Amino acid sequence: MTGGPAPEIPALATSRLSTLGVLARLLRDPLSALPPEVHTAPVVEARFAGGQRLYLLDPALIQDALVRHADDLTKTSDIRRVLGPALGDGLLTAEGAHWRWQRRGAAPAFAPGRLAGFLPAMIAAADATARRWAALGEGAVVDIGHETTVTTFDIIVSTMLSGGAGLDVARVERSVSDYLAPAGWMFAIGVLGLPAWTPHPGRRRALAAARWFRGAIRDAVARRRAEPGGGGDLVTMLLGGADPETGRAMTDGELADNIATFIAAGHETTANGLAWAFHLLSRHPDQEERLVAEVQRVTGGGPVRPEHVEGLVLTRATFEEAMRLYPPAPLIARRARRGFPLGPARVEEGGVLVVPIHALHRHRLLWDEPERFDPDRFLPDRARARHRYSFMPFGAGPRVCIGAGFATLEAVAILAVLLRAFRVEGTTAAEPRPSMRVTLRPAAPIRMRLRARDPGNRASPT
Ligand code: HEM
Repeated sequence: MTGGPAPEIPALATSRLSTLGVLARLLRDPLSALPPEVHTAPVVEARFAGGQRLYLLDPALIQDALVRHADDLTKTSDIRRVLGPALGDGLLTAEGAHWRWQRRGAAPAFAPGRLAGFLPAMIAAADATARRWAALGEGAVVDIGHETTVTTFDIIVSTMLSGGAGLDVARVERSVSDYLAPAGWMFAIGVLGLPAWTPHPGRRRALAAARWFRGAIRDAVARRRAEPGGGGDLVTMLLGGADPETGRAMTDGELADNIATFIAAGHETTANGLAWAFHLLSRHPDQEERLVAEVQRVTGGGPVRPEHVEGLVLTRATFEEAMRLYPPAPLIARRARRGFPLGPARVEEGGVLVVPIHALHRHRLLWDEPERFDPDRFLPDRARARHRYSFMPFGAGPRVCIGAGFATLEAVAILAVLLRAFRVEGTTAAEPRPSMRVTLRPAAPIRMRLRARDPGNRASPT
């Protein structure tokens, strides 16, 4: 940890939160159920319902656990309980050999050399949003989270499942919200060790949303089997791939699990990160002007093209700083298959390790003025000086987000295309509250007013 912990802070703090206290907080917002010590100590130990929970905030220990001890860890049953009904046994939720095989099959689609090939589709989707905004008229007010969701959904569907397969974005957006609404209940049921079918508020609606989503994906798979094509998108790759060890190809069910996983994991997270980025920029017009000046300089005042995106260093830093303050995946957790020593603690067999990314990214032992929005923290020189695991919006170790490079490219392209054409202003002085529903979403829609910049900056005509 940079500088080492302050002397009065114990290396291993013990949380005094009771199981009952944690349950009540989980139902309100899982982020509020974290022991308060996570904001000051490097490691916090707690016991809920008899089981050990270790909260890690020391980057070196996080690396030790998630990378060196990766084979000693599995995902927790929580993640399967919460996401399994919607995503089945796809890449995000699978374990062991089934996970490894799927990761090998999907990895080539995300290889660095291939990512640039997605940029034309990313820019086209952002241009389509810019045209939609222009049609709304000067001063129109939009829900920025909805706007970023439509844009990232358009991108994920056109790149992963070309042709879109007739998926209705409004219906998908509604199902994701309905599905995630009772997430706090699902986590609480997990802490109590109750079965997944335990009734709770919002359960019926969530299951109906999952049924609809999976049905729509299964139809898309059937259509794709009937009419092959797709020009090298992810589905073509998964359809054509076979396990190098067994020669087995994916069944329709496995294919549906993975398409559902990529669509769900691959658009809502980036959309939330972007919504927070637009909000932060609206509160810091000086930073917004710097970003727009960078875009103008790199593009020479013309439309954003694929070859410009790599040079948009401050735009990328701005997105990273937004993800520091509002990480779209605000915590990750693992269960220990066997015990091992970890810094000042001992991980017990069956114990749960939690990396509270949201708290890590605002930890005062790691960041100067952690609450301040300062994109320059992510300019290459300053970023290099930090421990790599003090910033981990995409997780770490073998289960690190496969879409990290994809998400960053699309976010930079979207910010550049939209901000060079529009100023996006806040409509209220009240600070929007984040709420964790697996992902970190604004608790209420963030409404923003659109002001066209110089008309010469509008989206390129198609
Ligand atoms: C800003 C946007 C994104 C954020 C913050 C994010 C965050 C994460 C995190 C933290 C994990 C690891 C979870 C864990 O360790 O338990 C993860 C895994 C994953 N993400 Fe992302 N993600 C983003 C975008 C994407 C995109 C664009 C895609 C697909 C195109 C994607 C697909 C996945 C998949 C499939 C996994 C599971 C990987 C595995 O277990 O092998 N994500 N993501």
